Amino acid sequence: MRHYLDLADWRSEEIRELLDLARFLRLEFRSGGNKAVLAGKTLAMIFQKPSLRTKVSFETGMNQLGGAALMLGPDEIGLGKRESTGDVAKSLSRFVQCIMARVFAHETILELGKHATVPVINGLTDSQHPCQALADVLTIQDRHGRVEGLRIAFVGDGNNVAFSLGQAVAHLGGHFAIASPEGYSFSEDDAETIAQIAAFNGSTFETFTDPVKAVRDADVIYTDTWVSMGQESDTERRLRDFREYQVNANLLKYASRRAIVMHCMPAHRGQEITDEVMDGARSAVLDQAENRLHAQKAILVKLMTHQQA
Ligand code: NVA
Repeated sequence: MRHYLDLADWRSEEIRELLDLARFLRLEFRSGGNKAVLAGKTLAMIFQKPSLRTKVSFETGMNQLGGAALMLGPDEIGLGKRESTGDVAKSLSRFVQCIMARVFAHETILELGKHATVPVINGLTDSQHPCQALADVLTIQDRHGRVEGLRIAFVGDGNNVAFSLGQAVAHLGGHFAIASPEGYSFSEDDAETIAQIAAFNGSTFETFTDPVKAVRDADVIYTDTWVSMGQESDTERRLRDFREYQVNANLLKYASRRAIVMHCMPAHRGQEITDEVMDGARSAVLDQAENRLHAQKAILVKLMTHQQA
């Protein structure tokens, strides 16, 4: 049995297979609908944090594959409070065939994975967002035809989205650069993880404090909120520290002429990204959102049917 918790647990070849499966399922869906390969199966969705895209894409994805999804909100099960995370995982495993969870501490998703006897999917933790990253590299392939050899620049916080994106890009041989203010880049461990995957695939990983250096000649410019869920009490300091890290028309001038702009959403227009760029011709943000559906369906099918791509 396999979980989808951390892109470091997946081989580069397997990431490519998941992307092939996502494209197949997308084409099948657009050509009249998916086969009901998950008929009779249920996905439990645990949320400790709010969600729009994750909830809707997993639920509609399960429906399109003939299965069902069950929403368990923050107040419903009291993960780790009303009962232990291990007991939740063990009990749910007797009812459902897969668990997707969005939690605060990454250790919580590891704990779920340790005790569950069904596959567990990471729907975002404080440190990783591997479902988003799979949709993101699918989007880059759609727009640019490949990830290999491209320059992908992340501008802003070295957060969950940035870390998983860096891993996914490195898996596919893309060059990854991040520009963050002093003190907001990746931990040494996380930087080492990306660097190792990049080295294995013959690509590079660089960190900068100057956004211009990171985006120079970039094929993709990516940004995300300066204040992630759970960091709200730190808002004032973060808004001040990230002021120079906005993705705007001026920053885009340094990128390749064919550069696209990406954001996982929710976006804070006027903070990390301007309206002009978010809604502009280079923006791929809504394709990214849609690709969550297709990428996650591939993960669900792979984990719940052991299907090879
Ligand atoms: N970094 C953001 C991503 C939201 C999908 C957060 O964790 O709030």
